[in-house]
Amino acid sequence: MHGIFGGVVPELASREHYRHIGPLLDMLLAQSGFSAQAIDLVCVARGPGLLGSLLVGVAFAKALALGLGARFLGVNHLHAHLLAAGLEQELVFPCLGLVVSGGHSQIYRLESASEIKCIGRTLDDAAGEAFDKVGKALGLTYPAGMMVDKLAADGLCDPKLLPRPYTAGDSLDFSFSGLKTAAISAWEELSAKGADPCETDSKKQQLKDFCASFNLAIADTICAKITRALEANPDLNSLILAGGVAANSLLRQKLTDLMEKRKGRLIAPSAKLCTDNGLMIAYAGWLLARQGFYHPLGMESIPRGRKIPDDMLKTPL
Ligand code: KG4
Ligand code: ZN
Repeated sequence: MHGIFGGVVPELASREHYRHIGPLLDMLLAQSGFSAQAIDLVCVARGPGLLGSLLVGVAFAKALALGLGARFLGVNHLHAHLLAAGLEQELVFPCLGLVVSGGHSQIYRLESASEIKCIGRTLDDAAGEAFDKVGKALGLTYPAGMMVDKLAADGLCDPKLLPRPYTAGDSLDFSFSGLKTAAISAWEELSAKGADPCETDSKKQQLKDFCASFNLAIADTICAKITRALEANPDLNSLILAGGVAANSLLRQKLTDLMEKRKGRLIAPSAKLCTDNGLMIAYAGWLLARQGFYHPLGMESIPRGRKIPDDMLKTPL
């Protein structure tokens, strides 16, 4: 639906959420064999995200919790990405976390499932946004990250073609906007003077090679920041990798090597748990609820760009 617009159209997204959310619950209950009355906790993504879509989910979840007399909990979307790997393998705390998605690129220090501190963030575009916008300039459909990754697998990279932005100094923040602009102009230049346009094979190879160079520039930049974050937090030797861009094969390989060299461990969920999914929200909420956390039904939804308030309440266990 969003592909033809080259990005998510917020109004369409929230209308689709509204159209699907009721039938989805019915379908999930039918598949699981549970009755709605068996639900004693309702967890929902409260943000950061697109406000219209969040409001649909949050209003639905509040009504469901109220109707069932169940406990209610709003989950931080980014924390849920980090904790998702716990569905498949044991999480080790304290650890470092990296969320790289279409809307965010953040580095965290995690003391536990409920104590998560952001220590680095993107100053402009997120890594996934850079993949999607560069992909659009390459003529690929939205979201382009997975396609760039696939094309790159058969390409030969030029490590010097693109910059590694914002890697000098000691900041743990990212800035992918310069890399995006550099990549778009490098591609325009290459395709203007590059392969013979009549030779489709050489044009295709040029695209694959370019994707390989871009993939490498993103992965190198992220690895430089993670190395710095590990140096600043010498007591940590495991890293959770999460978010849609965590599905990127080169990034996974490079971070696995980086952690192995330090005798540490990369904890990365399988690809289906990397992109947005409801299971990670339910799981993160369940981890918090087990510690007694909940929200009153007045809880707010938080759009992208606003800090998620620390407003969970706790019942004595
Ligand atoms: O976490 P996610 O599903 O949604 C957001 O919360 O943003 O992330 C979506 C992003 C998109 O930008 C998409 O292009 C990117 O993840 N992505 C990838 C790959 N698979 C998805 N980027 C690079 N390589 C991939 N294999
Ligand atoms: Zn996400």
